[in-house]
Amino acid sequence: MIRASSGNIQGPLLTSSVLSDWLAQRLARDGASPIYRQLHHLLQQAILLHTLTPGSKLPSSRLLADELAIARNTVTNVYEQLALEGYVRTLRGSGTYVVDNTADEIVGRDERAGLATASSAAAEHRGSLLSARGQRLISTAGASNRQWGAFMPGVPDVTTFPARVWSRLQNRYWRRPQAELMTYSTGGGYGPLRQTLADYLRTARSVRCAPEQIIITTGIHQSVDLAVRLLADVGDVVWTEDPCYWGMRSVLQSSGLQMRPIPVDAEGLNPSAADLAEPPKLILVTPSHQYPLGMVMSLARRRMLLEYARRTKSWIIEDDYDSEFRYASRPLASLQGLDTAGQVIYVGSFGKILYPGLRIGYLVVPEALAGKFAIALAELYREGQGVQQAVLADFIEQGHFTSHIRRMRNAYGMRRQLLMDAIANRLGEPLPVLGDEAGLHLVARLPDTANDQLIMREALAAGIATRALSTYFSDPAQAPRGLLLGYACVPDQEIGPSFGTLANVIERYLG
Ligand SMILES: Cc1ncc(COP(=O)(O)O)c(C=O)c1O
Repeated sequence: MIRASSGNIQGPLLTSSVLSDWLAQRLARDGASPIYRQLHHLLQQAILLHTLTPGSKLPSSRLLADELAIARNTVTNVYEQLALEGYVRTLRGSGTYVVDNTADEIVGRDERAGLATASSAAAEHRGSLLSARGQRLISTAGASNRQWGAFMPGVPDVTTFPARVWSRLQNRYWRRPQAELMTYSTGGGYGPLRQTLADYLRTARSVRCAPEQIIITTGIHQSVDLAVRLLADVGDVVWTEDPCYWGMRSVLQSSGLQMRPIPVDAEGLNPSAADLAEPPKLILVTPSHQYPLGMVMSLARRRMLLEYARRTKSWIIEDDYDSEFRYASRPLASLQGLDTAGQVIYVGSFGKILYPGLRIGYLVVPEALAGKFAIALAELYREGQGVQQAVLADFIEQGHFTSHIRRMRNAYGMRRQLLMDAIANRLGEPLPVLGDEAGLHLVARLPDTANDQLIMREALAAGIATRALSTYFSDPAQAPRGLLLGYACVPDQEIGPSFGTLANVIERYLG
C-alpha cells in the first residue's frame, strides 16, 4: 500500500498508521492552507507517485480522522472528492480503494525507479508527466463531459438559436470571401464588431468605452488569461470571491498566481481589515450577479472597491457573464461604468446569450492598455474567426441580438418559475432558494449536514446533472451545502418530472 521512509517513499509499509504518520508529518497546522486541501493534495500525490499503489485500501475515514486528530467529515469529503476525480473507488460495505489506472503505469514504473534518490519535493513533481501547476490544474479540473439537459448549470437553450438568420448572414460572406476575414486577425478583432459592441455595451450595460478599447477574444476564459499575463507576474496575489466559478480558479491558478479567497456577504465581496492591509495585484469579481450565489454588489461596496483599487493600483476584473438575464428588473449598470481611474477590466461573453460553442467574448480595457492587449492577443493566440465576427456584427447591427435576448429572457423566466414551483411543491419541506432573480441557474440550499457532493453524484447516476454548492468554496468541508440547478436548457414540460427524479435522490439522503 504505502512505501515510505523519512522523506522519500520506499519499501512496502502496509498499515494505516504508516499512512497516518506520513500524512501527519506533512500536514501544516498553521492555518495557512485548509486541512481539507492539504489532505486532498497529499493523497493525490501519493496516488500519482504510486506511493499508494493501485488496489490498496485506504483506512476508514473514522480511523484516519482519529489518527490525524481532524474532523471525520473532512476525511469523508476528501475521499469523496478523490472518488469523483477517479483516484479511488468506494465499494459499499468494503472500503475505499486506490483505482488501478493502467495508463499511468509507465509513469509509475519510472517513478519507482527514481524515488529512492529523489528528494520528496522533486519526487512529488515527477509523479506526473506534468509540471506542478499542470498537475494542480488537472487535479482540480471542473469541466463536465455533460453539457446539456436537466439541470446543467450555465447552459443556455441552444435549440432556439436563430440558425436560419445566422446562416443567411454567414452565406453572404462565403459567397464573396474576403481575404482579410480569412487571415489571422490583428488589432483586437473585427472593427465593425467592436463598433457595434461598444454601442450596445454603452446603452445596455452603462460601460464607458470607445470601440478601440474593445478586444475580441474567444470568451471570458481567454480574456482573463490574457489580462493575467499582461497585468500580473507569477506569485502575485489575486483576490477571488469565495465562492467562485471553478473555471476562473483554473485560469488563475495555472498562471501561477496566489489565490486569496475573500468571503462574500449579501452586498458582495467583503474583504476584512486584514485583507485590505495587503493589497493584491488583481481582484476578480462578478458584481452584477455573484457566481454562483446570485447577489448583486451594493453601490457602497462598488465605491469602496473602486477607491481601494485606485489607491493601491490593483486591477479589478469585472466578470459580467450573464447579466442580460435579469427577470424582475432591468439589467444592472456595470462597475466599469463607475470607474473614473481606469482600474477596471470588463469581460463579457456571447456564450450565454447565443451559444457556448460560438467562443466569442470580449474585454473592455482602459484606453492606455488597448493597443498592448491587441498586440498580446495576436502574439499569443494568432486570433482568427474573422467570418464569425463579421456575421456577429451584422446580427447585432440588424437587431437580431436584442430580440433573441428578449425572447430568451421570457423563456428562461418561465422555466425559472416552473422550477421554483417544483421545488416548493415536490418536497415536504421546501428547500430555500438563492440567486433566482437572474441568470441561468438557481441555488437550492440543503441543510449544512447534507453531503451535497454525494447527492450530486447520485443524482447524476439517476440522469440529473447538478453541481454541489460546497465545491465552489475554498474550503468545501466548512462550506454551506446546496445544489446549483440550471433551468435554461430544460424544456418546460421536463422541469417538473426531472425535479421529481432529483427530489427522490435528495429525500433518500436527507432522510
Ligand atoms: C462566472 C462565469 N464566468 C465565465 C464563464 C465562462 O465564460 P466563457 O464561456 O466566455 O469563457 C462562466 C461559464 O459558466 C461563468 O459561470
